[in-house]
Amino acid sequence: MSDIPRDPMGRPATASDLGSFEGESVLTAPAPATRELPMQEWDESTLVLGIETSCDETSAAVVKGGREILSNVIISQGDLHGEYGGIVPEVAARAHVEALTPVIGEALLRADATFWDLDAVAATIGPGLIGSLLVGVSEAKAIAAVLELPFVGVNHLEAHLYSNLLVDPDARFPALALIISGGHTLVVHAVDHGDYDILGSTIDDAAGEAFDKVARFLGLDYPGGPEIDRMSLLGNPTAVRFPRAMSGEPGFDVSYSGIKTAVINHVRKLEARGEPVVVEDIAASFQQAVVDIQVAKTLAAADHVGAERVFLCGGVAANSGLRQGLATGCAERGIKMTVPPLELCTDNAAMVAACATAMIRRGRTTPLDAAPHPNLPLTGG
Ligand code: KG4
Ligand code: ZN
Repeated sequence: MSDIPRDPMGRPATASDLGSFEGESVLTAPAPATRELPMQEWDESTLVLGIETSCDETSAAVVKGGREILSNVIISQGDLHGEYGGIVPEVAARAHVEALTPVIGEALLRADATFWDLDAVAATIGPGLIGSLLVGVSEAKAIAAVLELPFVGVNHLEAHLYSNLLVDPDARFPALALIISGGHTLVVHAVDHGDYDILGSTIDDAAGEAFDKVARFLGLDYPGGPEIDRMSLLGNPTAVRFPRAMSGEPGFDVSYSGIKTAVINHVRKLEARGEPVVVEDIAASFQQAVVDIQVAKTLAAADHVGAERVFLCGGVAANSGLRQGLATGCAERGIKMTVPPLELCTDNAAMVAACATAMIRRGRTTPLDAAPHPNLPLTGG
């Protein structure tokens, strides 16, 4: 037994003490040559199992050659969190534990594949809720270790970009991408695989967060984005002129917390005056303000980099007004816009597997001792 600090039971006193083991830890030992997969072995038939558990969707997918979705099973926890009006991290993590193994089984079944057909196992490693990330990353590592396959820890924001590459055979980098979700709002110049230049972001609330908070205030169900979208179709988008914060300012940053407050103040004023609150009109006016702000900033960024392509992705990319508004602006400029179907806008494992395949092609697999990172930034590499 090596000479490291031990507790009375003979166990290493702390995990960090393991680092003083002589020689390599089993977890950090380099893979034997037989496990190294030279780039030319990665081809159109490469099968990657993707796992996504960063937030409140449990998903597993099998993707072939980085582009062909053989299966993409998604279980949403929306109903579980609905009664609380927002995500409860502990509830989310427990639900992932229950759902993940059956979801993986179903993904393999639908892909007509077995574990032994896989070439790599990938999971979202951040950003996200730490308890939720741990469930997916731990299971992916376990499968990879048992099958002696490479493990790939995928950045969730980078994965959203790949939802565009999955739906359009012509889609490729460089592109100006708007990644707009419940946790992030980023305007990114995606120059190439792994080469990302963040041009703008929200300085306060993410767009999806603003949708969810406004919906909650208006008494709509969780998640609020789809509810506001649905209500908007029935309302008048010019009924209330909510502020378009930072519109006139240079740069590509946005701010959404002011509009949320403006909605709350507007409703309180109506109530104080005893005037009717027409939820459909408020939802439509709020959505229009978000769309106007985000479309203007995204198109300005596209002009700035001379983009020929725009990728729209992330949960809020499911929004009908945003899809329409950005499509119109891109068409006017002769820019080709790609936007995934709704089930690939919100969180899913197909985009994780696709992103992982591109990483593997660049020789970027992840050691089994890598930890999930709740605030992982989009750095590429
Ligand atoms: O990408 P995603 O599934 O999870 C995160 O990575 O955050 O995005 C979820 C967000 C939620 O805030 C949800 O309300 C929003 O996407 N969302 C929408 C729509 N569908 C989902 N927001 C506006 N309109 C929609 N149709
Ligand atoms: Zn997401």
